[in-house]
Amino acid sequence: MQTPHRWPQNLPFILLGTMLLAGDWAAVESQVLYEHEREPAYWDAQAKATLDAALKLRPREHQAKNVILFLGDGMGVSTVSAARILEGQMEGNAGEETVLAMDTFPYVALSKTYSVDKQVADSASTATAYHCGVKANAKTVGLSGNAVAYECNTTFGNEVYSVLRRAKAKGKSVGIVTTTRVQHASPAAAYAHSVSRSWYSDADLPSSARHQGCVDIATQLVTNVDIDVILGGGRMYMTPKGTSDPEYPTSNSRKGDRKDRRNLIDVWLNAKPNKNSHYVWHRKEFDEINIRTTDRLMAKLALTEAVMFDRAIERASQLTRESDTLTVVTADHSHVFTFGGNTPRGNPIFGLAPKKADDQMPFTSILYANGPGYVHINGTRGNITMVDYYDEEYMQQAAVPLDAETHGGEDVAIYAKGPMAHLFHGVKEQNYVAHVMAYAACLEPYKDCPPQPHSHTSAACVSTPSNLMFGLISLLWLSR
Ligand SMILES: *[C@@H]1O[C@H](CO)[C@@H](O)[C@H](O)[C@H]1NC(C)=O
Ligand SMILES: *[C@@H]1O[C@H](CO)[C@@H](O)[C@H](O)[C@H]1NC(C)=O
Ligand SMILES: *[C@@H]1O[C@H](CO)[C@@H](O)[C@H](O)[C@H]1NC(C)=O
Repeated sequence: MQTPHRWPQNLPFILLGTMLLAGDWAAVESQVLYEHEREPAYWDAQAKATLDAALKLRPREHQAKNVILFLGDGMGVSTVSAARILEGQMEGNAGEETVLAMDTFPYVALSKTYSVDKQVADSASTATAYHCGVKANAKTVGLSGNAVAYECNTTFGNEVYSVLRRAKAKGKSVGIVTTTRVQHASPAAAYAHSVSRSWYSDADLPSSARHQGCVDIATQLVTNVDIDVILGGGRMYMTPKGTSDPEYPTSNSRKGDRKDRRNLIDVWLNAKPNKNSHYVWHRKEFDEINIRTTDRLMAKLALTEAVMFDRAIERASQLTRESDTLTVVTADHSHVFTFGGNTPRGNPIFGLAPKKADDQMPFTSILYANGPGYVHINGTRGNITMVDYYDEEYMQQAAVPLDAETHGGEDVAIYAKGPMAHLFHGVKEQNYVAHVMAYAACLEPYKDCPPQPHSHTSAACVSTPSNLMFGLISLLWLSR
């Protein structure tokens, strides 16, 4: 279908990371390099191939054996577009024509992300929506909108249950893989019920909440659902206060945090003595997903993370079959991130717009509506002429000063492929995500399920649903 054009690495175009590409020079170069795009025949052929593929597309109307949810924290549509350009530019192309792994998914819907109490939602209420199938209040995880943030006694009776938990209840294998801490709100709603997303360890609970019977998220991780694979950060919430971190033995800030002096890693290991459980933390012990690299990524740019996220999606596509695996890629909410400025084709994604602003100063294509990037000196916008805006640490300018940039309120995309993926189409409420996953895999509350694959050819031989792997892959976006 749409194959991005690969240009030889030795062309002068490959000068990314230098400031030369900004401005007219880049526009001229890209016009030369993309000469074939001037021909209508190129676009006609490209569109015809896309049309042919669309005409051949058939919904897979049978049950899913595996369900994988990729959740890009804060991965709004503008972030995906910018990440696509970055991915292409990292390979020496202009970038815009790049096809991300998620771009190849045949079905796309929009997800409305507001929560019960917020127009612009947080990661906790949205996680409850896409994991558990109901919208909820900000700050709360795994609880309906009847629960009130921080009020422990509103927890009980208001629990809502995730697709992951329902899959486990049906005897499937389930896993959580995340580049953030596993107790973070996005994965937490898959297994925990808490009126506060920040009650990571028992040390984070007010004593009143502890007395009323509320339990921290780390404890719920090892006691609520038997999760087969847990990969991510957040070890300090699992070990007794003062326990040195095996990876950072000299770090004080990474020492264990628990007041109850329990070692929850041991609790998890001992909970299933008949199983061959392993606790691994070192790179050598886990090659497929390089935790140390992904950990380090958490210091880095949101767009670089989005590129890594897309590579994980590509890798998962290689390891699974579209015929039996429903793969869903979505975000919890967007950010107030934008890029624009009449930039020419191939303009470096972190580069400048070609013209100066009305204040006679240059501006980067990427801008934020609010956040710490607001720099005004003596009443005028910061002059970035001499600033290295390609630096990893550079913070793009924002219109309104805030110490942390806020989430965005617009819809996010849902990309889907595999059995029942066609149920993702049109504009949907975010909690619909959990319902499609549950229906596709024939989980509670759905009883009237899609047929088993190939049941039309061998009606007498109904195969038992084998190991369904419900996976959550969540990436925490740099929220600034
Ligand atoms: C719940 O706790 C709050 C104080 O945290 C209290 O004001 C309220 O009356 C309690 N509600 C119930 C139903 O016990
Ligand atoms: C911005 O900085 C550059 C380089 O220091 C300078 O030449 C230019 O005059 C400045 N622009 C304004 C509007 O102050
Ligand atoms: C801001 O204005 C003050 C007073 O006019 C001046 O002393 C100072 O140098 C200015 N700062 C900058 C960064 O231009």
